[in-house]
Amino acid sequence: MRDKVLQLAKEKNAVILAHYYQTPDIQEIADFKGDSLALAQKASEVDADIILFAGVHFMAETAKILNPTRKVLLPDLEAGCSLADSCPADDFRKFKALHPDHIVISYINCTAEIKTLSDVICTSGNAVQIVESFPKDQKIIFAPDKNLGRYINEVTGRQMVLWDGTCEVHDILSSERIMKMKIENPDAVLIAHPECAHPVLLLADFVGSTTAMLDYTKNSESKKFIVATETGILHQMQKDSPDKEFLIVPADETCSCNDCAYMKLNTMEKLYLALKNEQPEIILPDDVMEKAKAPIVRMLDLSRHLIK
Ligand code: 13P
Ligand code: SF4
Repeated sequence: MRDKVLQLAKEKNAVILAHYYQTPDIQEIADFKGDSLALAQKASEVDADIILFAGVHFMAETAKILNPTRKVLLPDLEAGCSLADSCPADDFRKFKALHPDHIVISYINCTAEIKTLSDVICTSGNAVQIVESFPKDQKIIFAPDKNLGRYINEVTGRQMVLWDGTCEVHDILSSERIMKMKIENPDAVLIAHPECAHPVLLLADFVGSTTAMLDYTKNSESKKFIVATETGILHQMQKDSPDKEFLIVPADETCSCNDCAYMKLNTMEKLYLALKNEQPEIILPDDVMEKAKAPIVRMLDLSRHLIK
């Protein structure tokens, strides 16, 4: 199946982009893998006829908005995101109307329609820089992740108004289990994604995006890490640092499952079928694409100095 995917991609001049939360087999065949920021940056430069996006819906949508004339395929259209789902456009319009003197900074994990209501987009990799590009007294709505928003408020000293959304994977990682792991592994460094809940971030030695965590573990002198994020990251972490040990934080007392169920809907077989049938394709109305593009391009312009 892997060879068939690669063969079809070649025949059809398709590029395969994959997020680090994809399964290792998919990460290994991707032409480019990255976190949300790197994937958006890459998507803005693609010149293939087809973009096969091994990730979730909002990521493929972003790629389509940046490449309206190219075909963007998502292997499973059900690959959504709890953050995007938490922020329906009609409710957000009302919320925005309650804060007329605020600008809107939206996390890229939102629908294209929410992007049309936003002034600028950010990812976890550039959120602090994007927020700090505005004057200190600028009133800001931050949507849809309240954990990331709270974290940025803390780091920047801002008081952004937060939409009440969470990532269903990161929000349930257990601080009790982390404390137990820290006691059992006193030599381990705790690293966490800013989508995690406040108690987890308070315990963390380092907080950062997917790429920031990968870089941190690569460059750190420590040999053992407790990792509070989605399990997919472990593949690249272990590849980058084969001599280091990584302990993933489980969800809660009853469940060790911190795979993103949406990300993991993609399989090699679905990638193959998507390329073969050139379906499911991301289709968006022209006016939505046009309006949603401006805040994404603004983010990319503000992030040029950040490494892919
Ligand atoms: P990053 O890729 O920005 O670290 O975000 C993680 C995530 O949850 C993507 O959906
Ligand atoms: Fe959405 Fe969380 Fe899954 Fe990322 S890990 S796609 S934020 S539900």
